[in-house]
Amino acid sequence: MGEETDNRFAEMSSDEGSGTKAERLQLVAARAATCTACDLAATRTQVVFGDGNPEAPLMLVGEAPGMHEDATGKPFVGRAGVLLDACLRENSISRKHIYITNLVRCRPFTTESGAARNRPPTQEEINACRPWLEQTIDIIQPLVILCLGAPAANVLIHKGFKMSQERGQWFEGRYARYVAATWHPAYILRLQGDAYEAARRELVADIAAARQKVIEAKREPKLTLF
Ligand code: URA
Repeated sequence: MGEETDNRFAEMSSDEGSGTKAERLQLVAARAATCTACDLAATRTQVVFGDGNPEAPLMLVGEAPGMHEDATGKPFVGRAGVLLDACLRENSISRKHIYITNLVRCRPFTTESGAARNRPPTQEEINACRPWLEQTIDIIQPLVILCLGAPAANVLIHKGFKMSQERGQWFEGRYARYVAATWHPAYILRLQGDAYEAARRELVADIAAARQKVIEAKREPKLTLF
C-alpha cells in the first residue's frame, strides 16, 4: 500500500464519519477528483466516481470508464450502459434505485494508429483505485452487490473467479451481505445471435435475482447488536 493510499484511509476516518451518505460521498468524490495514485491521472478528462442513489441497497460494480464515461463523468453511459439500462428497466429498476460505480475511476486506453482504444485496467491501476471503491462501499453499505464482469468479481468475491462456472452464485461477502457476479454488458455486446440473446437473458435474470436478494436481506435480522 503506497503513501497516497494510506493517506486516503486516514483522511476517510477523520472527515467522512458524519453527514448523510450523499454528503459523505461528495467529500470522497471531491478528493478522488484530484487523485494521482496511478498513471491514468495524466490522460483522463475527469474522474468517473459513480452515479445513482447513495441510499440504495443494491450496488453494481463494473470495470472501468470508457470514452463516453470519460467525456461525461458518468459510469455506463455508452453502448454497454444503454444495454444495462434496458436490462434494469426489464426489472423495473432505474438508476435512482441503485448505485453504480467501477473498479477503476479513470479511463484506461491505448493509442493505436492515432486512435484511442479502451483497454482493461492493469492490476496496478485496480490496486491504486481500490481505496476509492472501498470508501464508496463503506459509505453506501449496500446489502447486495452485483459485479459486472470477472474483474470486479475477482476483487469483491474471490481471486480467480470463473464467470462461466460461478456466475449467478451468491457469496456472503466482506463488502456486502450478498455478492454475486454476472456478465459485463460490454461482453454481451460482442456476442451475436443466440449467444447474445442467451447472455442478455441471463443478465436480466441475474438482476432479478439481485432485486430478490435485496428483499430477502431486508427481512433478515441485522447481525449487530446496536
Ligand atoms: N464499462 C464499464 O465497466 N464501466 C463503465 O462505466 C462503462 C463501460
